[in-house]
Amino acid sequence: MTINRKKTVKVSAPGKIILSGEHAVVYGYPTLLAAVNRRLTLRLNKRKNDIKVVSNYPPYLAKYGLRKVGQKLRLNSNQGWRVKIDSTIPMTGGMGSSAALSVAITAALYWSTRNNWDIEKINRLAYEIEKKQHGNPSGGDNTVSAYGGFLWYRKESEDLKNFSSLTPKNKIKIVIIDTGNPVENTGDMVEKVKQMRQFNKKEVEGIFKEMEEITRSFLRFLTGERSYNLSNLLNKNQELLERIGIVSPESSRLIKKIKSLRGAAKVSGAGRWKKGSGIILAYHKDPNRLMDFVKRNKLKCFQVKLGEEGVRVEKS
Ligand code: MEV
Repeated sequence: MTINRKKTVKVSAPGKIILSGEHAVVYGYPTLLAAVNRRLTLRLNKRKNDIKVVSNYPPYLAKYGLRKVGQKLRLNSNQGWRVKIDSTIPMTGGMGSSAALSVAITAALYWSTRNNWDIEKINRLAYEIEKKQHGNPSGGDNTVSAYGGFLWYRKESEDLKNFSSLTPKNKIKIVIIDTGNPVENTGDMVEKVKQMRQFNKKEVEGIFKEMEEITRSFLRFLTGERSYNLSNLLNKNQELLERIGIVSPESSRLIKKIKSLRGAAKVSGAGRWKKGSGIILAYHKDPNRLMDFVKRNKLKCFQVKLGEEGVRVEKS
């Protein structure tokens, strides 16, 4: 197919956090995710015959994505592209920066070469790029970046992924603590959990089942069906993540300090083991106490709005 539509296309896709269910979701358990108001913006232009990527991101994923999605959309294989990527999503892990990139590439290519905006197809193609990046993703990260909002998500099989958008009755005000540059990536952490599960399936499945209970409680809390203590949900979730070995000792110490102030915190996403742990979601009934702690310890932190819009076309 020749490219006959828009000359410059600009799209943006949001990052995400996981409220509950990370890692377990890779094995068919449910997860709760929310899109956040940190976005990746991608500008796509036609170019003679090679791909040029202007970005802080390592260029290989964008190049792979353009080629892979180009093939799937049956575009001329000689078509070249210039891609410019700007993002406010931290790349330290846990906020879905690679999923936002996969979704944005797919959406931009789709929009520039098709006459419609098919979010289901865009999401399905973005999942193909995620597979390159993480090996065995659940597809939750790209789905929340594509659709936005709050999602209940479950991967039943490679071809069947069930999800529903939620309209929460309870607001969650969390702070994100960025634990700095990681050594491992999401794929490494998914592989680590896979090995642990192979070695001790009964124990790890037991942890995943407990995780499902927390995720279900979180759902009832969000929808207002039952009242729960948010701190307890976050802290229990964190204990389970520690048991599957995805929280570095450094982050574990930090989270314990937050708990000792009667606050709550959990790793969100794949976690990290060697250094830092990607991002940490922190919560306190009295936000000033949390902010004092953050300032005293010179931590990198920011607030996010949850439930933001999914991928969209921007004015170019
Ligand atoms: C990564 O953000 C979340 C994981 O559950 C992996 C996945 O769902 O693909 C660790």
